[in-house]
Order: sequence, then C-alpha cells, then structure tokens
Amino acid sequence: MNKKPLILGIESSCDETAASIITENKQGIPIILSNIISSQVEVHKEFGGVVPELAARSHIEKIDWIVEKAINESGRKIEEIDAVASTAGPGLIVCLSVGLSFGKAFATAIDKPFIAVNHLEGHALSPKLNSKLNFPYLFLLISGGHSQFLSVNGLGKYKRLGTTIDDALGEAFDKTAKLLGIDFPGGSQIEILAEKGNSEKYNLPKPIFNKGGCNLSFAGLKTSILKISKTIKTEQEKFDLAASFQKTIEEILYKKTKIAFSEFEKQNNLKEKIFVVAGGVAANKKIRSMLIKLCKENNYQSIFPPIELCGDNAAMIAMVGLEKFKLKQFNNLDHPAKPRWPLDEDAIFLKGAGVQL
Ligand code: KG4
Ligand code: ZN
Repeated sequence: MNKKPLILGIESSCDETAASIITENKQGIPIILSNIISSQVEVHKEFGGVVPELAARSHIEKIDWIVEKAINESGRKIEEIDAVASTAGPGLIVCLSVGLSFGKAFATAIDKPFIAVNHLEGHALSPKLNSKLNFPYLFLLISGGHSQFLSVNGLGKYKRLGTTIDDALGEAFDKTAKLLGIDFPGGSQIEILAEKGNSEKYNLPKPIFNKGGCNLSFAGLKTSILKISKTIKTEQEKFDLAASFQKTIEEILYKKTKIAFSEFEKQNNLKEKIFVVAGGVAANKKIRSMLIKLCKENNYQSIFPPIELCGDNAAMIAMVGLEKFKLKQFNNLDHPAKPRWPLDEDAIFLKGAGVQL
C-alpha cells in the first residue's frame, strides 16, 4: 500500500506563528493531525496595530517550538514528513522571511522537497480541509489583510472577480473599534456594541456601491466614521455608530455578493452553486446570517469553515502543500519572499472608479 503524504505547513506572513501536520485518508480526504497557532495580539495591543519589526522578532522566538509542538501533537516522527510547505507571500517581508527560511532549512535538514505557498491560495483551499468540495466554487475572503471574491476553479486556477481597492474589511472593523475606544484588534466587539444601538441613526457612505462590479472600498466609510466619532458624547451614540457601521457593511456585502454571484455564473458552467466564506470577519454572526439568507434566495450552498480554519493558520498552507506534493510541484531553495503576490496576476482596471488594482 502506498504511504499517504505527510506534510508540514508553516505560516508566518503577519501576526500569527503557526505550524501544522496534515495527511489524507485512503479516499483522499485531508486529515489534520495537528494545527498549532500562536497569535501575537498581546505584542501589538499597546501600539494599536501590527508592528512589523516586533512581529518578526516574535516569529523568530516562537517558530522552532511551534513546529516541534505540531510534530509532537501529530503523533508522527520527523523522518515520516514527506515535504515542507511555507508561506512565501503575500505579507510583511520581515515576517514571511522567518517561516520561509525556517521551512527551507528544515526541508534541507530532512532531505525532503520544499514547497513555497501563496497565503491566499491557502485561504482559497482551506474549505477543502473539512468539506468535500468540487471545483469550481465562489470564495469570499474577508480578513484583517484581505477582502476579495475569487472563482476557485482548481489548484493554481483562480480568477479574482473583485477585491478591495483600499482597506481590508477587518481593518475597517478594527479602525472603527479603535475610534470607539476599543483596544486593538477590536473588530469583533463591533457587533456586540451594535446590538444596543440604533442602526438608522447615522447615514454612512457606501463607497463604489453602484459601480466597480463586485470590487469593494472602505476608506471613505472610515473617514466618515472618524468625523462622526469626534462628535460623539454619550455611550448610546457609540452604540448607534457601531450599529450603523454594522448595517452599512451588511448592505455593501449583500449587494456586492449578489454581483459576484452573477459574475461567477457568467464565467462558469455550473452543476452546483457553492459559496464559501472565510477570514476573521466571517465570524461576524449578522454578516453570516445575511449571507446564508442571500445564498438561500439564490440557490447557493453556503459553507463557513470553522473559525480556526477561517483565520490565519498553517493547516491551509499544508493543504496547498499536499496538493502540490501530489503533482510534484516543488520549489527551489532560492524561492523569494513575495510581499505582493496576487493569485490572479491579471491586473483589473476598475472602470468608473478610475482605479488600477
Ligand atoms: O483572518 P483573520 O483572523 O486574520 C488576519 O487577517 O490576520 O482576521 C482578523 C480580522 C480582524 O480585523 C478582526 O477584527 C476581524 O477579523 N474579526 C471580526 C470579527 N471577528 C474577527 N470582524 C467583525 N466581526 C467579528 N465578529
Ligand atoms: Zn490570511
């Protein structure tokens, strides 16, 4: 019987140091044997955002024991690992370099192939870790660093249908939270404050709502929140602003997802319509229920991977590594860290908004 591949995945592109060991069963269904994630929230809290130099230092301090823990928890031995997959981009170059160099050195030490992984490809394939999924599917990634709609057509086959032209959605949540006096990263608190507020109180802008296809923009909304936050005097007004922001985001995502549905359908001959949502913002309960309702209205099956696979993790990096390993798509040890590395290399000219993406 052929031995099933055992892959070590390493992730260090931003503020999570992570390592994971995965394999697959006889039917080719992936199995996560370990998935270790160490977040740096405490390191960056007092600065109100990720400080690259501190993030890199923290990755260096943790990477060896995180990898060791992932191997120990997997119940397998180092000698059994068949390949090492590390995130090579996009992300902060000083952070990427840590996991990338570690992965290359580790692969060399155990004399096994090295695989450089695009972090976005990891997110795009992450639903395959726990759901039986056929290509193509429509994927919405809404995290602290990225916001995009992708048609996932196969390994290495991605068509970006829309992306943010400025801030990521998680960033907009975190900035709004900061302006409301909540510690970084406060995005997850918005929906809690919003429950006590009047969502009709403030009329907030919806940038590129009626143009730009399913591209997104949140910078104008943030500026508006900044202006209003300066006028806020009472707790109730804070709740009202959180509620108005939450409602505005839901309206933007509702409309843009509908546009993404029709673009996805135009580009693919679909047997089944599948919509997958991942990234930290996918934890937002109201966004979730709005998107589930939208899927029902449009005959889509909606899939939300579990939270530990939605945010940054190394199991998704190992997942891409597993697929590439099976196709013998290995990389040389001189593969660079790529701070910018779009999945779909075609730049899109956003007509009407006049923006080169
Ligand atoms: O994917 P993720 O865990 O990590 C990175 O992007 O690195 O996403 C984190 C983002 C943060 O901006 C956080 O504020 C946001 O996801 N987030 C939320 C919620 N939970 C996390 N935003 C809105 N509502 C939530 N419940
Ligand atoms: Zn990510």
